[in-house]
Amino acid sequence: MKKLETPYYLLDESKLLSNLKVIDQIRKDSGAKMVLALKCFSTWSVFDLMSKYMDGTTSSSLYEARLGREKFGKEVHAYSVAYSAKEVKAVAKVADKIIFNSISQLKRYHGEVMHLKVGLRINPGISYSNFDLADPARKFSRLGEKELEPLREVESMLSGVMFHFNCENEDFENLSKALDLIGKQYDELFKSLEWVSFGGGIFFTKPEFPVDKFCAKLKAFSKKHKVQIYLEPGEAAITQTAELVTTVLDVVHNEKNVAIVDSSVEAHMLDLLIYSLNPKLASPGAGQHEVIVAGRTCLAGDVFGTYKLEKELEVGDEVRIADAAGYTMVKKNWFNGVAMPSIAVKRLNGKIELVKKFKYKNFKESLS
Ligand SMILES: Cc1ncc(COP(=O)(O)O)c(C=O)c1O
Repeated sequence: MKKLETPYYLLDESKLLSNLKVIDQIRKDSGAKMVLALKCFSTWSVFDLMSKYMDGTTSSSLYEARLGREKFGKEVHAYSVAYSAKEVKAVAKVADKIIFNSISQLKRYHGEVMHLKVGLRINPGISYSNFDLADPARKFSRLGEKELEPLREVESMLSGVMFHFNCENEDFENLSKALDLIGKQYDELFKSLEWVSFGGGIFFTKPEFPVDKFCAKLKAFSKKHKVQIYLEPGEAAITQTAELVTTVLDVVHNEKNVAIVDSSVEAHMLDLLIYSLNPKLASPGAGQHEVIVAGRTCLAGDVFGTYKLEKELEVGDEVRIADAAGYTMVKKNWFNGVAMPSIAVKRLNGKIELVKKFKYKNFKESLS
């Protein structure tokens, strides 16, 4: 096969399938339903595969909800931090469930969505996150209702509630305690509800995660409170399934060698910049040759990281950035007008399919 032109995101369906099998095991062993969080990953070319192992999607906006309906099917959960009146009308046509972020939105729009299952986000006041920026229980958080009493007043409008309180939580004991606390705190409320979602952020596809204990915990919770549990994995579903494939365009020297690749952290892996993280490289392998790998936008800090590699990087060498699926492809942008990475999928049969190529036309049409 002809070599693909870089840059491109390469999604590997076999790797995706390994994660999906864990998801399926949890569904079967715990009874929980799994809806993909489109905010993390919306690359719909692999939705045919994902929808075999998941129950639907959850969204953060009208457009994501539409995409879930059109490209994934099954259950469509629609959540938004705040809906406009127009959006609620449109969401009501594509979603099965609508989850409001506040009691005021619930009361304002309830009359228009009574044919759907209606939910409300609760902020339980506890969370697991390594970043304040991503902590839903941070001070003055606007994400969900915090007070218990007002909830009782609107519970007759609800069929369920959503708690999203984790971010990359791989600590089962912490999670287990949090579920006990939530079970205790909202015990009365659960009596009138059919379902509860524990959101995303649980890293059950990490190799060491005790999946069996997790399933037992969910099952017991569901039985005790007589509710259908939903989980909304994003990162856990697609972790370690993609690479960003780039080519070195130039190597400059300023105390250290700096290899500039035909991609950008700011434009193509923005989350790394937001959270001050450095990605691992899938290739070249590790060695003794130190090099800074940097992006090609004008931002001085458009830098992937400093690496010790098995060889000196030269113009024309390929550099593969690891773990490039979650919160990357959905956030890519046209900063500096740099060529946007194509999207390629390595199918289960090993064939690589180029599913999307971006052109000047797409850049031009993103503004006017
Ligand atoms: C409400 C909700 N559900 C699900 C997710 C997905 O989280 P993750 O990708 O960490 O699993 C998020 C992430 O912010 C979220 O806010």
